[in-house]
Amino acid sequence: MNKYYITTPIYYPSANPHIGHTYCTVNTDALARFKRMTGHEVFFLTGTDEHGQKIEMYAKKNGCEPQEYADKITSGFKRLWELMDISNDGFIRTTDKRHMECVQKVFKKLYDQGDIYKSEYSGHYCAQCEAFWTETQLKEAGGVCPDCGRKTELAKEEAYFLRVSKYAPRLIEYIRENPDFIQPVSRANEMLNNFLLPGCEDLCVTRSTFKWGVPVPFDERHVVYVWVDALVNYLSAIGYLSEDDSLYRKFWPADVHIVGKEIIRFHTIIWPIMLMALGLPLPKKIYGHGWLLFDGDKMSKSKGNVVDPFVLVERYGVDAIRYFLLSEFPFGNDGNFDNATLITRINSDLANDLGNLLSRTVAMIGKYFGGRLPEANCTVPEEDAPVIEAAVSLAERMERAMDEIHPHIALAEIWKLISLCNKYIDVTAPWVLAKDEERKTRLGTVLYNLAEALRIIAVAVGPFMPNTPKKMFEQLGIEEGELTTFESIKTFGLMKPGTEVKKGEAIFPRIDAKAEMEFLDNMIEEQRKKAEAMKAAELAAEAKTAEPAKEPEKPAPAEEEKKEPEKPVITYDDFAKLDLRVAKVLDCVEVKKSKHLYNITLELGEEKRTVLSGIKDWVKPEDIIGKNVVMVYNLAPRKMCGIESCGMILCASTEGDGDVVPLTTLRDIGSGNKIR
Ligand code: MSP
Repeated sequence: MNKYYITTPIYYPSANPHIGHTYCTVNTDALARFKRMTGHEVFFLTGTDEHGQKIEMYAKKNGCEPQEYADKITSGFKRLWELMDISNDGFIRTTDKRHMECVQKVFKKLYDQGDIYKSEYSGHYCAQCEAFWTETQLKEAGGVCPDCGRKTELAKEEAYFLRVSKYAPRLIEYIRENPDFIQPVSRANEMLNNFLLPGCEDLCVTRSTFKWGVPVPFDERHVVYVWVDALVNYLSAIGYLSEDDSLYRKFWPADVHIVGKEIIRFHTIIWPIMLMALGLPLPKKIYGHGWLLFDGDKMSKSKGNVVDPFVLVERYGVDAIRYFLLSEFPFGNDGNFDNATLITRINSDLANDLGNLLSRTVAMIGKYFGGRLPEANCTVPEEDAPVIEAAVSLAERMERAMDEIHPHIALAEIWKLISLCNKYIDVTAPWVLAKDEERKTRLGTVLYNLAEALRIIAVAVGPFMPNTPKKMFEQLGIEEGELTTFESIKTFGLMKPGTEVKKGEAIFPRIDAKAEMEFLDNMIEEQRKKAEAMKAAELAAEAKTAEPAKEPEKPAPAEEEKKEPEKPVITYDDFAKLDLRVAKVLDCVEVKKSKHLYNITLELGEEKRTVLSGIKDWVKPEDIIGKNVVMVYNLAPRKMCGIESCGMILCASTEGDGDVVPLTTLRDIGSGNKIR
């Protein structure tokens, strides 16, 4: 039996999994299931990448230890994969003992043989991506991290290095000689032209500025660089260098690593070089898939535009969501997730095209043949051939698509057959045939062909929608067995006439498009609001911690550093741009989601305004309600904690915001009056 080893990236448990992670895992699952169905012995691996500064930072923010934090988020990933019917054979966590031991052995082996050596590193480091960048890479990206666009920082440390430069020429040759190694091909060219051909420096493979990682076995002041740690998962999970390495011996090299396009560099440069240094065969293929965007933007928790797979599955079912993810977005490209398309696809492709095809066929067999599958002995070639040919050739077309890692094409092939079947019903018009007793055998043939095509469709959709075949087989009166294997769909006409079909419930009920759109749009809006509130709270917290007086452990800055720099002299015209007005405070309430903000209602003559002000630490509501304050009337509105703040109240403050006092007027003067 052919073996097949397929992997997803191991995900960072920095935040709960979203639809982007689901997209990658569901596609990998469909590939794994397809290979199993086509007779391969499959090992499908996924897992979590739990070390590194980023996880350490998130844990701290959440007031817990990194392990506790990683445990919590990882269990969410596991729950999601169960919910999504992911058929992984292994789940590796980089905090597993077996993994950490393997990383240490790999590191030591490479050190002992001289492929890892000790030196000093100084470079541009992106804490978010845990990556060092060279001067050239940084310059090309406009001075920011080429991956995430964030600011990098200069970092210098004693460190260990992997001799990337020694192996790079061999890798270049390998990539050129093996055009299938990096897929899609465009990504191979990108790796060669942007990274390998300009010349590769040796890679810094340890860190000493934080602790949350695998300790270097012979120098515990250092932890192994998170990417080296993470990449080893593909070996540690199958027992490489462990007592029982039978899985490793059976499954290595991997047949394909499925990864997002942003991490293809690590998988096609660092990973192959590590493997070359270890003297191991390289994975056969690295496939870099595109991103799932939301309204054209990368999903991110901080933007509040992440789509929650748990909610979608609860509402529409696993198979519908899997179908949408697998069919809507060509795997190698970026795709745009939008709620309207999701709803349309569920209703048109699943409820109408597939669901109705099944229910109509079964209903007609019920109505015209008492629920027993008729015989097919009255063929009209020009009508029947398109369906029969598409059905028997489906397996081959799917195999080709799946070998090219194109699950969306395999699904499109199935839907071509579904669409042909629906056309077949229109062309043959069974309800017309039914009116004429003499055409009953033709009617029987049409219905037989439809049922048989549906059998083939039911088997074919299995890897993509694992719960659907069973429901279809039940209605078609088919027992799991000979008629439900992949081999069996290469032959048309295997169903036995006389089989009893059973009308059942709609396999994909139609959904109320309008109501669902409202629901989904509201959900995203709620998330956006939450994210904004969190951002505002974080900003406020950052501002507080940046306050020098509150950080006694830091040496006091020199006197001149403490002073704010003088502002430049401005002209009267500059000043005149400000529209300052007197406003009366009508109300002042706490913003629930914020530690520092008040929601203040101001009266300006006839007009009322809402202004958020971060003065909670210094002013009580009763001190300010009823008073006149000074506000910037023409400041651009800004949303914080989901509330739009239209203007700003002016305050005087001591250095370092030790005290903050709102400005007021000497005498009462009507609200709304201008300040000049
Ligand atoms: N931990 C590393 C991978 C180490 S593999 C040895 C990592 N983790 S990650 O959680 O940030 O992302 C991993 C993968 O999740 C991406 O490469 C991609 O496959 C998937 N996706 C995350 N967000 C996604 C989208 N918005 N769209 C599609 N896939 C997404 O990088």
